[in-house]
Amino acid sequence: MSENWKTSITKIEPGKIHVKGYNITDIMENLSYAETVYLILKGELPSKAEAELMNAILVASIDHGATPPSVLGTRTVMSGGNSLNAAVAGGVLVIGDTHGGAIEQSAQIMQEWAQKEGTPEEQAAGLVGWLKENKKRMPGFGHRLHNVDPRTAKLFSIAERHGYSGKHIELCKALEKALEIKLGKKLPINVDGAIAAVISDMGFDWRLGKGFFIISRVPGLIAHAIEEKTREKPMRKLGPLPFDYDGPDEREIK
Ligand SMILES: CC(C)(COP(=O)(O)OP(=O)(O)OC[C@H]1O[C@@H](n2cnc3c(N)ncnc32)[C@H](O)[C@@H]1OP(=O)(O)O)[C@@H](O)C(=O)NCCC(=O)NCCS
Repeated sequence: MSENWKTSITKIEPGKIHVKGYNITDIMENLSYAETVYLILKGELPSKAEAELMNAILVASIDHGATPPSVLGTRTVMSGGNSLNAAVAGGVLVIGDTHGGAIEQSAQIMQEWAQKEGTPEEQAAGLVGWLKENKKRMPGFGHRLHNVDPRTAKLFSIAERHGYSGKHIELCKALEKALEIKLGKKLPINVDGAIAAVISDMGFDWRLGKGFFIISRVPGLIAHAIEEKTREKPMRKLGPLPFDYDGPDEREIK
């Protein structure tokens, strides 16, 4: 038996490239980029509904203006006089549990709670109780700007049009109502929460969560990096908020 390490993603031989068994030239001619992303992450070809949803997921997070932390990261690195790859990598490194990363945490929680006994409403009520007990926020809910996140509504409407609403989307919608009852105010499902519900219904492992955001956001980060380079002065003042110093008074080393 061979002692070589194994990979199940792409087979390469001179003049031949097969991704998950499919010839790259056939993929180039027959699949969209979103369908190919689905194939490489899931291992199989998507259905029509899954292809449309995957495309919508990748488009949804492509950019959200100049304020998100990842964009400020990319622009700051570029402004410091670095290369495109350094600037984009800087932006990707800023993506974390509270920015873009909510997909991962939200999918993990929904995948756990959607397995439990009861209707989506009963699961949602149990989950809200658990969040309260553990003093946790529900990742994928709430938004600084949007009362109704238009990307969430569109993702769910595509899913509905294809009759694709599974147990995670149902739980996600029930959770929005249960949180409103418990907190006395509406916390909208944000795009991370909606993507988490959709990828969970597609059968993706929650550990892939941040990956969907990264794949979607990199073109936006490239656009910001190039705009920074071509439009702005080097090392400009980035981060518009004024701040005060509240550290120790001036002192001497004795
Ligand atoms: C996105 C987010 C930072 C926006 O926050 P915000 O609108 O500025 O609201 P605040 O952080 O000031 O919170 C306001 C109140 O709502 C509550 N709240 C906000 N989001 C909540 C959530 N996801 N779950 C439970 N409670 C939440 C807070 O506990 C706070 O309650 P209090 O007034 O009793 O203290 C926030 O909703 C959040 O942390 N969401 C979870 C992480 C997430 O989904 N991130 C991805 C964003 S696209």
